[in-house]
Amino acid sequence: MSFSLLRASFRRTAFRAAAVPRAARNTPTRAAFRKYSTPPPAPEAKSNTGLIVGALAAVVAGGGAYYLFSGNADPVQAVKAATKFTPTQEDYQKVYNKIAEILDEAGDYDGDHAHGSYGPVILRLAWHASGTYDVASNTGGSNYATMRFEPESLHGANAGLDVARGVMEKIKVQFPWISYGDLWTLGGVAAVQEMAGPKVPWRPGRVDGFAEHVTPDGRLPDASQGAAHLRAIFGRMGFNDQEIVALSGAHALGRCHADRSGFVGPWTFSPTTLTNDYFKLLFSESWVWKKWNGPKQLEDKQTKTLMMLPTDYVVISDKSFKKFAKAYADDNDLFFKDFSAVVAKLFELGVPTQQFVASEPWLMKTLDEQKK
Ligand code: HEM
Repeated sequence: MSFSLLRASFRRTAFRAAAVPRAARNTPTRAAFRKYSTPPPAPEAKSNTGLIVGALAAVVAGGGAYYLFSGNADPVQAVKAATKFTPTQEDYQKVYNKIAEILDEAGDYDGDHAHGSYGPVILRLAWHASGTYDVASNTGGSNYATMRFEPESLHGANAGLDVARGVMEKIKVQFPWISYGDLWTLGGVAAVQEMAGPKVPWRPGRVDGFAEHVTPDGRLPDASQGAAHLRAIFGRMGFNDQEIVALSGAHALGRCHADRSGFVGPWTFSPTTLTNDYFKLLFSESWVWKKWNGPKQLEDKQTKTLMMLPTDYVVISDKSFKKFAKAYADDNDLFFKDFSAVVAKLFELGVPTQQFVASEPWLMKTLDEQKK
């Protein structure tokens, strides 16, 4: 049976209420499929979203509707069994290269504050896609790329990430076989590496989920809070104090935008180059509360051009966090080593190990390395 026939049969069978068990009526809706699933791929370039739909169709057409939708089965596993397409590391390197090239095509997207790079916002997308993970319920994380769906796309913490998703979509159309979760996390890897950061080990295997996999609002950190909040939020993802501090070093990159978070300004003088300057500046500058009508944030007393969020300042005001922050301020190599490890861990949150196509993560080459 052709793919389109399978799909048609799937629609007919899966959504005829009488044929579908009660639980299924609350799970993937017809609207969810129509609105959010990737269109069927060309035969030579299979998107795994398309494969999910195709495999679901096959199972449903085969009378497996109850099995799939009764909540006793993992549709992803059904899909995995039905899929044979495994692109090579070289294929993923091609995707990496396209992302790396597009990072510098930002022009003045960021208005007067143009970094000339999409790097920071693409890293933020990869982090927010992964940071919804909850160890206890084993939900969220980078696996299903659920930020494609409402209401997650509209969660306050994700304001502005439509920019990054739009940029990634341009890559997706060129490589329709890659899943969104793989694409976005590979984007995060490319952003770190191309902005002079360390290598971030990465491997593919995430699959596209559905709107039903969206996690509740409130799983990402609130910048106006203190140490207890950071420990609660990152502890829920499975991170300890040292990892929280290392992750915070990402704020060497990019800036805050009044129309996204309400906060304004960059953390460092070089927002498109990853260094340990975030930690150095936390210790070397005098940080004072900014006098303005906006949310509480700090500014450096001397130039008033840099900022710190309340949660950034916690990194040096909490005794345990401060120990790690000092170590990173004193040693960029140590920061890079720990940042690489913790970002690799972050990007794999929520992905079942057996889903990865490689037993060991890969080191993707930077554009510069490939010129040599
Ligand atoms: C510690 C808890 C964190 C809080 C409270 C926090 C909060 C924020 C806020 C409020 C912004 C400004 C968004 C905007 O207005 O555009 C921001 C930007 C950013 N965050 Fe975080 N963040 C945290 C952790 C992280 C982590 C773990 C990473 C990556 C590993 C990260 C990477 C970034 C980047 C790269 C930007 C700049 C985006 C741009 O320039 O468009 N953040 N963060």
